[in-house]
Amino acid sequence: MLEQLLELQERTLVAVAEARSGEQLERVRVACLGRKGELTQILRGLGALAPEERKRAGELSNQARERLQSAMEERLLVLNRAALAEQIAREQLDVTLPGRARPRGGVHPVARALDEIGAIFQGMGFTTASGPEVESDWYNFEALNLPPNHPAREMQDTFYLPATATGERLLLRTHTSPVQIHVMEQQPPPLRVIAPGRVFRCDSDLTHTPMFHQVEGFMVDERVHFGHLKGVLAAFLRHFFARELPVRFRPSFFPFTEPSAEVDMGCLFCQGEGCRVCKGSGWLEVLGCGMIHPAVLAHVGIDRERYAGFAFGMGVERLAMLKYGIGDLRNFFDNDVRFLRRYGASR
Ligand code: DAH
Repeated sequence: MLEQLLELQERTLVAVAEARSGEQLERVRVACLGRKGELTQILRGLGALAPEERKRAGELSNQARERLQSAMEERLLVLNRAALAEQIAREQLDVTLPGRARPRGGVHPVARALDEIGAIFQGMGFTTASGPEVESDWYNFEALNLPPNHPAREMQDTFYLPATATGERLLLRTHTSPVQIHVMEQQPPPLRVIAPGRVFRCDSDLTHTPMFHQVEGFMVDERVHFGHLKGVLAAFLRHFFARELPVRFRPSFFPFTEPSAEVDMGCLFCQGEGCRVCKGSGWLEVLGCGMIHPAVLAHVGIDRERYAGFAFGMGVERLAMLKYGIGDLRNFFDNDVRFLRRYGASR
């Protein structure tokens, strides 16, 4: 019995000293002190001994257990410390390593087009304004003379936000035209302003993304007429595409302008012969515009007898695709650095 105990103690102490990890140590502990461990078995056997012997054997067993337990605790400390030291060594950062070259990107074509558009209009005396992306019905529709039943207000085109406590339903602006209203409310004519920004429509396919960019522009002054509009837009397009382009104005309809027009420019890719890009027509549609509707001027309290204005709106992705020869709209928002390497500009 005593020999057995001593033998177990020696053997276990050796195993503890040799344990290389917390798990190994735990296995040694369970094999000796666990519910079915060897020492536990011995203690259970004590009941069969004569009372005198039992007392002595009990003391020795308890001593052995305490000894083993403290040996295991010590070993565990040593192992933990070693594991930590090893982890620190493994995760060490060599600050003397030379840096890695960062992936080379470029200025995104949308940013590039916005810079160029901004610079051209600045050259014609326009200043830049911006407005909120979350708009009220008033700014996005009503003040722009879009009647309540206008199809552009439908759920399938407009992202509406959940109704507020007062029951008002805000929305993500579907165009940059509401900036016209914000500016005209705050500043008296004469005005020459462009408003670039993000717009949102509930639409996603090959040629539509739910978010895209527009540049709005408008001018309000005494005696402003359609001729000014034509001159400004033709000059803009020729500057932007850096060539003498034919430009034509086609009658169209927008609720916030009267008369309204769509602007086409001669196809860049076939010089009017007709190709895939212009769908055989020789013309590319690039802008919407018109004379600001008197109802819009009235909404912002501008004297329509004294002042008149023109306005226009253009899609930035579309202009960038045409100018830089980008084939697929979805590339713009894929966040693939190869796209920036190919079409991005360097600053
Ligand atoms: N807001 C129009 C759209 O998103 C574009 C537009 C057309 C703006 C004519 C104008 C304008 O200012 O006069 O389709």
